[in-house]
Amino acid sequence: MEGLKDKVIVFAGAGGIADGVAQYLGQSGAKIVVGDINIASAERCIEVVKNAGGDGVATTLDIANEEQVKALVAFAISEFGQINGLFNVAANIDPTEVAQDTNSVDIDLACWQRNIDINLTGYMLTTKYATPHIIAAGGGSIVNTISDAVYANMPDKLSYSVTKAGVGALTRNTASRFGKQGVRCNAVSPGLVLTESGKQNSGHLVDMVLQMIPAPRVGTPEDMGAFVAFLLSDMAAWITGQTVCVDGGAIMRT
Ligand SMILES: NC(=O)c1ccc[n+]([C@@H]2O[C@H](COP(=O)([O-])OP(=O)(O)OC[C@H]3O[C@@H](n4cnc5c(N)ncnc54)[C@H](O)[C@@H]3O)[C@@H](O)[C@H]2O)c1
Repeated sequence: MEGLKDKVIVFAGAGGIADGVAQYLGQSGAKIVVGDINIASAERCIEVVKNAGGDGVATTLDIANEEQVKALVAFAISEFGQINGLFNVAANIDPTEVAQDTNSVDIDLACWQRNIDINLTGYMLTTKYATPHIIAAGGGSIVNTISDAVYANMPDKLSYSVTKAGVGALTRNTASRFGKQGVRCNAVSPGLVLTESGKQNSGHLVDMVLQMIPAPRVGTPEDMGAFVAFLLSDMAAWITGQTVCVDGGAIMRT
């Protein structure tokens, strides 16, 4: 992919979809700095980028912790001297909290707060500290990961859906406020993507999704990787403030 060579992209979060993005960025000669609460996950992402021909470094990050977000950005600058892009992809995947994330009558308040802290405040914090460096580098691209849960009829997953909808607003605010300084900001909304953690949902859920979507299969990390890498590249220079569903047609909006 053109328009990525030697660009430095900070990943806030690693995992299956991040690995798909790292694959394309590596093939395109980019450098990545990956922070994740699970260092093994961040290191695996670096292995992917290096095997594909790029470069990168991993570090530990709790995206909900402001000091750790500042440290991630400082680490990227100290390693590579600039930041050209940011990919926000972390999400609270704690199984207990996922199970407690129900509806407005039954939800556990601690679960609600933790999802707000990671999935929403965390994305704001990375944007806050990375954006000045992106501007200093002459502009660049931010990609936020949301979810079809924002649009779908889902009686549960209240706080997850609310945080992802909030990231949509963060995306449009960032695009509006910093566009003239060369910062593009878009959100990508995956449908069911079979990452390692997603495979735990396979079987019944896959069958259900396949009945609902026009595409003949569910998504792969590579499907997400191709599109996110495109948004991070200069090839997407005139795309900003958008929320795009990459979901096999599960959600169709004008
Ligand atoms: N896989 C899907 O079907 C799907 C569908 C819709 C949306 N999404 C979104 O895509 C993104 C990636 O999903 P995935 O399937 O690759 O998930 P994944 O579980 O493979 O990766 C999520 C990563 O977030 C990290 N993380 C959790 N809490 C963190 C914290 N406090 N600080 C830093 N990192 C933290 C985890 O350690 C993990 O590596 C998420 O934002 C998710 O909400 C995924």
